[in-house]
Amino acid sequence: MCKFKCIMDKKNKRIGILTAGGDCPGLNAAIRGVGKTAIVKYNMEVIGFSSGFLGLINKDYFTLEEKMLSGILTLGGTILGTSREKPFKKTGHLSINKPKLIKEHYHQLGLDCIVCIGGNGTQKTAAGLVEEGLNVIGLPKTIDNDVWGTDETFGFDSALWIATDAIDRLHSTANSHKRIMVIEVMGHNAGWLTLYAGMAGGGDVILIPELDYDMEMVNKYLLNRAKKKKPYSIVVIAEGINKHKRDSAASYISSQIEKGTGIETRKTILGYIQRGGSPSPYDRLLATSFGSHAVELIAKGDYGKMVIKKGDHISDIPLSEVGAKVRLVPVDHPLIERALGLDICMGIKK
Ligand code: F6P
Repeated sequence: MCKFKCIMDKKNKRIGILTAGGDCPGLNAAIRGVGKTAIVKYNMEVIGFSSGFLGLINKDYFTLEEKMLSGILTLGGTILGTSREKPFKKTGHLSINKPKLIKEHYHQLGLDCIVCIGGNGTQKTAAGLVEEGLNVIGLPKTIDNDVWGTDETFGFDSALWIATDAIDRLHSTANSHKRIMVIEVMGHNAGWLTLYAGMAGGGDVILIPELDYDMEMVNKYLLNRAKKKKPYSIVVIAEGINKHKRDSAASYISSQIEKGTGIETRKTILGYIQRGGSPSPYDRLLATSFGSHAVELIAKGDYGKMVIKKGDHISDIPLSEVGAKVRLVPVDHPLIERALGLDICMGIKK
């Protein structure tokens, strides 16, 4: 009896989990997916590190009990906290060897694996830790949808709903005042969120970093709409289109439009609203699936992988393949072709 109980009580594996980089809806759903599968299905012990890689560096952690994972599926943000700490970047106190500290703490805590949930930067760090000899699994998240190797990241769908809703609301006020509305959407250097929200929100002009826009062409298009007695125009732009300019993309583009067309123009920067709040049903499902797949890999001892979605399938690829690559919108993406076919201006010749 006692022997049986002792075997039952013995945890199979001890895993750590952290969320790093900018937050997004679905992080808690992923933590829950990893945690519940690990604890309930595999009798593993799960510890959560606070504030991304800072938690590993400072040995700031707590045990994630199963009851703590109930009720977090729908919560925005991350119960673990996050930071943009990059342990392999040499800054600040040069005497502190952060990767060495992480390795020491990993071994002191008797970890079998760390699950790193994050975007491109996080996956690069995760690959670095694999090279240092640690067992790591990466889960891709970001509203930018730009993690190389996966068709989708969780966070994107929720942000798409928010950005589309915001654009919908700007149509009516633009119409009342006969104005041009410029809406700046997040996405870092990628145009996924702008392209999708721009199309879903009925944007007249959509500008993304992957296509070199011509301002004169944009202004000519807007003047032509006015000539056709279209009362207002919606211009959806990615934050990344004007990286070299000091102004925000929205300030720059709206002033260029007003100068070039003489039409009253207003700008809206959607900002962090796009990253906040409850995840969409789709993101809840994706994050949960990513989380449980991660634990299946850990149970098999199949480490050094990033979980991905390709087509309808959840699978995985080696973290070493992901490296520092970024997934941008291909210039021949079908949605670009469709937009041009609908006479939506993308700032390029058709
Ligand atoms: O990567 C997600 C993202 O929200 C980008 O879209 C945006 O450029 C960036 O993070 C903002 O970062 P921070 O939270 O550091 O201001």
